[in-house]
Parts: sequence; structure tokens; C-alpha cells
Amino acid sequence: MGTGKEICSKMTLEEKAGLCSGADFWHLKGLERLGIPSVMVSDGPHGLRKQDMVADHLGINDSIPAVCFPAACCTAGSFDRELLKQMGKVIGEECLAEEVSVILGPGMNIKRSPLCGRNFEYFSEDPYLTGELAKAFVQGAQGCGVATSPKHFAVNNQEAWRMSISAEVDEQTLREIYLPAFETVVKEAQPKTIMASYNRINGVYASEHHRLLTEILRDEWGFDGYVMSDWGAVDRRVEALKAGLDLEMPSSNGINDAEIVQAVKDGRLEEAVLDQAVERILTVILDYTSRYQAVVWDKEKDHAEARRIAEESAVLLKNEGVLPLNSQQKIAFIGEFAKAPRFQGGGSSHINAFKVSNALDAVSGLGNVHFAQGYRLEEGTEEQLIAEAVTLAANSDVAVVFAGLPESYESEGYDRQHIDLPSNQNALIEAVAAANPKTVVVLHNGSVVAMPWANQVAGILEMYLAGQAIGEATVNLLYGKVNPSGRLAETFPYQLEDNPSHLNFPGDGDKVQYKEGLFVGYRYYDKKKMDVQFPFGYGLSYTTFSYQDLKVSHTTCQDTDQVEVSVRVTNSGNRAGKEVIQLYVNRQVDSSLRPVRELKGFEKIALGPGESKEVTFTLTKRSFAEYNTLLEDWYVPSGDYVIEIGKDSRTIVLSQNISVKSSQVLPFVIHRNTTLGELMENPKTRAWTEGLKRKIDAFFHPDGVDQDDAVSDDIGDSIFKNMPLRGVLPFVEMTSDELDDVIKELNEQI
Ligand code: BGC
Repeated sequence: MGTGKEICSKMTLEEKAGLCSGADFWHLKGLERLGIPSVMVSDGPHGLRKQDMVADHLGINDSIPAVCFPAACCTAGSFDRELLKQMGKVIGEECLAEEVSVILGPGMNIKRSPLCGRNFEYFSEDPYLTGELAKAFVQGAQGCGVATSPKHFAVNNQEAWRMSISAEVDEQTLREIYLPAFETVVKEAQPKTIMASYNRINGVYASEHHRLLTEILRDEWGFDGYVMSDWGAVDRRVEALKAGLDLEMPSSNGINDAEIVQAVKDGRLEEAVLDQAVERILTVILDYTSRYQAVVWDKEKDHAEARRIAEESAVLLKNEGVLPLNSQQKIAFIGEFAKAPRFQGGGSSHINAFKVSNALDAVSGLGNVHFAQGYRLEEGTEEQLIAEAVTLAANSDVAVVFAGLPESYESEGYDRQHIDLPSNQNALIEAVAAANPKTVVVLHNGSVVAMPWANQVAGILEMYLAGQAIGEATVNLLYGKVNPSGRLAETFPYQLEDNPSHLNFPGDGDKVQYKEGLFVGYRYYDKKKMDVQFPFGYGLSYTTFSYQDLKVSHTTCQDTDQVEVSVRVTNSGNRAGKEVIQLYVNRQVDSSLRPVRELKGFEKIALGPGESKEVTFTLTKRSFAEYNTLLEDWYVPSGDYVIEIGKDSRTIVLSQNISVKSSQVLPFVIHRNTTLGELMENPKTRAWTEGLKRKIDAFFHPDGVDQDDAVSDDIGDSIFKNMPLRGVLPFVEMTSDELDDVIKELNEQI
């Protein structure tokens, strides 16, 4: 058939323009005369959402029956790269079975606010964790020959005005918080496509953002697939093409294709730009068709995988001796979600699950369980239902309340207004807990919720939106068939108002200011030493773990060195379990404008009772670096850093100091407001500045005697260090023009 380039050379201008937009909602155009098939793309990413009938991208119409896996809010809790890789592989194979060439995901935007309606589709508030998990998913799916489309590139962190809002974010925050996960995925997993988001970034639509789509994505990170638009995200087609947006989705009904043709004819668009886009699209199509192999899709087997993934991801948040349950106990299962669980979110990721398990069915035969309705979804408090639940709870050994957010509370398309559970559920939980102190709450939600009853209950199991096998997974975790091992990928604050984006979310309709900068999630709560309900990285197990022997290969090193870190972890309890070992870097040097600590490594290991294992991490320059806007590069300020091993961002169990020396020199440009302190620090200007200091001293103490008690030496030094160059003129008999000459000379010297 030939390469993309060869095929492109045989295409007419109209054919080329046509290939750059969809044929319909889910297909690219084919070209029969040149043997190019019309390939299909499909949502996910938590399963296959292949629409056969009336197509839409909002989850309105049904798709083929498929397996609904846990959503990203849930799988992120696994902190397990292998698990995500396996999930990507299973979904990749389903795509092959259904002849889908691209799975539209993973969703990997940062959870800036708990209110974002699509948080359930995103992994974390932390870019490192997001990048590692998304990378694993992409590797798993693409290993099957199916392409992925990590989305939504970039800075798409809310649903309010999602197609037009401009995310106003400074360069350092962009580089350190909102882009790194995409960077990791592109550099380490080479996704074959990327989806450009709807929103604007600092005023420019993502789909027309040359700097993002070409300079950063391709030139810096080496992306070589094609960029597609989110559905309907293209504003001006020709500008988008020039910026690096290759494929417009879905079809524009020929309107934008004609624009492209006209622009080439008018000379407004170089044909070479169009050719490049066509070649990129063709290359991915050809790659898929050449690697395509028919596979058989075993839905039951994949259902079992969905269950395992849910079990590995759920987070045990509280357990005061109440869990695991045992089959001799009389247990009350209370609440609608025990019978009809909420297991996925709404919108484009909505899967037509071929079956859904619920906890009540899953527990039958295993335990002595009785059910009470407790509440009705989306309806007010019904005293009768609460009274029945309370009676059952009082007569049971343990009461388990299945609570969570109704579907209408969170979805693609709109943001949440608050983080509360429905008030009838809160009332129920409090009443049940008052009747039986051994009350456990099982949560079904796509994003954080406030838990005003947290101190009144004995156990909390966060299932999130755990996919269609949620019922079996929940029962297996409650009864200890599986030992919980998930950890929170996001902080649970006590109240919405504590969140760092609170004063600037969702913006004014035109712009949303990311004023919290780097201080997103735990980076903020930890810096503020603010009490939170549950910190980032938190999660319990039915066993306990102890940590020993932290070893760090260097205590002093260059930023270019690799630092090996190892730690021994022991299962000190009497059950097999899994621990997530978290490595944070806590910067000591110039720390005032920096987060306290940042996650730079994690590993999940399985340990039998009494078993120990050594876990190793490799840190590189990037583990210590900030993005420096003067250098336009990653930079490690020389100084001290602490390597911390934590169970969560608030529980550091071992730490070791390390001193890192930078191999880069920051550009130093002297101007009238450069301080004498800065000049003293620089070896090239130190001697000159000392001379200046002597002159100033002589001005204030002509006879060499310091008689001013009000200004101690420390105060004097500090005043001197903070003095801008222009401030010294009166003391050293220099005119303003002379100062400019001096500055010029100094700049030439350094
Ligand atoms: C969503 C994407 C999705 C696409 C196709 C858009 O509305 O933002 O995440 O992949 O529709 O359904």
C-alpha cells in the first residue's frame, strides 16, 4: 500500500482536506481508490463505548453492551502501574474484537477543584501519579496495536463554559502541574494520537495553540502521532491546522474541508502543512491495519478483570476494629446502592454494561445479611425508611450503609455545586451510627465528598465508581477475601471552602484564574498545615507494615547524577496484604514559594505475613527540579533536599537529607533594582559590591565609629542586602546616568 507519505502524494487536494475531518461521529474517512479503510474511534476509556446506532458524544444514546471497568477516580487508588497496563490491554483487545482503531482516553487532567464534573474520569490532583498511571494504560492498550488518545490536552479542569473558558495559568504552574503527566505519557509511551481540549489556555484555543500542539508537544517532547480535536472543539479550521491540529472530529459536514481547500488555493495555507497532517493520520491508520488481528472477546473473563481492578483500587479510609466482617455475624446492608450501586459516571464515558453486580446479590450464601432501604435516591428524608434502617441496625452486629452520589450530582457537562452527600443519606448515616456504633459506610462517588459523620462511624470504605463488578468487589473487601490496598489519589478536605482553587473556580465565564499556582491539592494543604479529613496517599489495610533501612546512594551529588533510594518494608501483621510505598522530595533550599513535598516515586508490593522486601527507586534531575522560566528549562537550585518515605503525604516514616549541586547557571542580568544582596551572592560582582559597601559605611560613619544603637549589625546587613542599586546613589556620590554606565560595565563583566 505504501507509506503515509507515498499515499499522500497520490491524493487530490480535496481528498487530503477531507481526510482531516471525520466521516461521521466515530469514523475517519476512507479512500477506496487507494485502499485506505474508514477506521473507527470510540470512547472509553473505562470500557468500550462503541455506538452502532444513533451517534452522539454525550452518552445520550446507547452503545453496544460491553464491560464497564472502574473509572479513573477509582483505578488511580490502585497506585499500580501493572494493573493499569493490564486494564489497557484488556480494553485494547476489546477494541480489536470490535474493530475500533483508537480508544479515546485516558482522561488525564488534574483535579484542580473537587467540583469539576469530570473528576471521576481523571486520576489525581498529582501530576506524577497521573502520568505514571496514564502511561501504563497507554502501553497496555497500544501493545495490542490499538491507538490511544490521551485527553484533554490541556488545562481542561472544569466543565463550566468548557468550550470557551480561558484557563489563565502561569508558565511555571503549567509546566509543573498541568503538563507533566502528558509529557510523561508522550515521552515514555508514545501515544499515537492526542486529543486537544475545548478550552482556551491563556486566551488561545487548545485546538489553535501552536506553542502547545507543535512547539511543546512535538518539538520538545517528540510526539509523532496525530492530534485530534475534542468533539466540536475546532474554532477556525485553518488556524488549527497551522497550529498542529491534524484531525477535526467529528465531521464538519464538509464545511471546514472546503475552507482548507480554499486556503491552499488562496495561498493562505501552505499545502505542505496539510500534507504533513494527512501523512500523520495515514501513518496511524496504516499502523493499525497492519497490526490488526481478530480476537475473540470473552465478556465474562473481562468482568472478572473489572472486579479484580476494583478490589485493588478501593480505599479503606477508617476501620476501628469493625472490618473485615465474618459470615457468623448478623449484618445489616442499608441503602439503595446495596441493590443498585452507582458504578460509573455520566457523559461520553458512559458504558452500556452487559451486567452489573450488586452487593446484596454478591453476599448471598456468604453471610447472614438483611436489607433495609434507608433512603431513596434524589428524594428527601423519609422518616419511615430511616426508622426501619435504625431498627435493623440496632438488631445487627454490624450495619453497613451503602451511600454515595446520585448520578445527577456529577457528570460530564456541568460541575458540582457542593461536595455534600444528599442530606437524606447524611441523616440516615447519623441515625444508624447512633443505633449501632459498629456502622460502616461504603461510598460510591466520583469525587471527594464531605463526611460530617466520619467520627461517628467505625468504618469507611471508599469504592468510588468501581465499574460493573462493584458488588462482588465490595463484598470481597468487606469480608476480607481481599485485603484493601488502595490509597487516595486526592485529598479529602473537611469542607469545600478549604480547597485552594475555591476563590477562583469556575471563573467569570470568560477566564478562570489559576491563582493558587503550584499549590494544588496536597501541595496546598500541606503547606498551610491545614487539617484535612484524609490526606493524599492515605489508605488502610487489614494488616500492618513497618519500614526499615532507608538507603540513599549519595548524600551529596550533582543534579545530573542518578540517586538510588532503597527501603525495606515488612508486613508486620498476620494477613497477606499490599503496601504502597510513597517517595516524596521535600525541598529545603529557597522553599518559601514551593510546596513542602512532592510525590516523586511510588511502588506497590505484595507481602505475606512477616515477609519483608526491599523496594528501590531511581531519582533523576527531574525529581528535584523546578521549571525555571528564565532558563526555560528544568533547574535544580543547589542546596539541601530531604528524601522522605511516606505512607501518605502527612505520614513520613523515614527520611534522609541530600545535598544537590546544580550544573546550570541562572542568567544574571543586572538592572537598577538589582539588590546589593544579589550582587554579593554572585562571585563575579562580590568584590565590586564589597567596595560599594565600604563607601556606604564611610558615608554613615565618617570617623569610623558606629554610635547608632537603633541599627544593630544584623539590621544594617539586612538593609544593605535589600537595597536596590539605584538606592545607593546619594551615599556614593553617583548620578543616575553614571549608575547606568556602571550597570552596563557590570553586565559586560558577568
Ligand atoms: C468529550 C471527550 C469524548 C468526545 C467523544 C467529548 O464531549 O469531551 O472526552 O471523547 O466527546 O465522545
